[in-house]
Amino acid sequence: MATIDASFASSRPARRTDWLGRAATFCYLAIAAGQLLFTAFILAFYYPSSLSGDFAAWNTKPLIKGFVAGDVSGNLFFAAHVLMAAVISFGGLVQLIPAIRGRWPAVHRWNGRVYLVSALTLSLGGLWLTWARGTWLTLTGAFGITLDAMLILTFAALAYRAARARRFALHRSWALRLFAVASAVWFMRVGYMAWGIATGGAGIGKAMDGPFDILLAFANSLVPLAVAELYLRASAHGTAAARKGVAALLGVSGLIILGGSAGAWMVMWGPYL
Ligand code: HEM
Repeated sequence: MATIDASFASSRPARRTDWLGRAATFCYLAIAAGQLLFTAFILAFYYPSSLSGDFAAWNTKPLIKGFVAGDVSGNLFFAAHVLMAAVISFGGLVQLIPAIRGRWPAVHRWNGRVYLVSALTLSLGGLWLTWARGTWLTLTGAFGITLDAMLILTFAALAYRAARARRFALHRSWALRLFAVASAVWFMRVGYMAWGIATGGAGIGKAMDGPFDILLAFANSLVPLAVAELYLRASAHGTAAARKGVAALLGVSGLIILGGSAGAWMVMWGPYL
């Protein structure tokens, strides 16, 4: 999987039209398509039920622990979590559009603050749902999502600190890493679907405890992070061969993301609307 900050291409005009820039833009558009579908699902499925207090409606979709009668704090944490999920999914896409940063810096700054608050809320609230409410199927899955929360919190702090210090190149690097790991739960859904389409579900256990489940529990944050890192390095000082290699990786990632996102819509999101 991959992530892109289209701004890196635009901040280097001489190289904007090379294969790396084109592949980064393609990969961003694939991610945007998939995350817009995820956002649309959250807005259509979770917003009406959560905002009207009809929490029982969550359970029309398979969940580990959605609405539980009498569990007021658990239900409220869950409601806050799904409401913020749409904010971070849409907000991250907006942050990466270079034209918005260039033309409306105030929008970038305010959306950035909202993005950071949603990253903190989702990570800390998600940790509470996992460990205090006891929402997990396997311990491996719980540790995988915990690692993701730690990465989100760390990168959010580093991106914020660099922005405050007006070290914008550094800020963009940490922000891109943050985007990669903050998108992990979405990558996980897309990853399951892409793998299912390609292999028929090899290695997926009945209780989500197969080898593929264990791998994806950590790969959902570490693979996008690795791809983001390769992109950052190739675009900053990569050789021509390295830039082409990373461009190919971004191109393939974009195709996988498109397939996985279409599958996720057809299987995981669309049928519940
Ligand atoms: C940062 C981006 C995140 C987004 C966009 C997000 C999104 C969501 C969504 C949409 C759901 C509802 C389940 C569904 O319909 O698929 C959910 C549930 C949940 N999330 Fe997150 N989440 C994020 C981060 C986290 C983190 C970091 C953790 C844990 C540390 C976490 C833990 C949980 C738990 C435990 C549930 C309940 C699952 C269930 O009952 O089936 N989330 N999340």
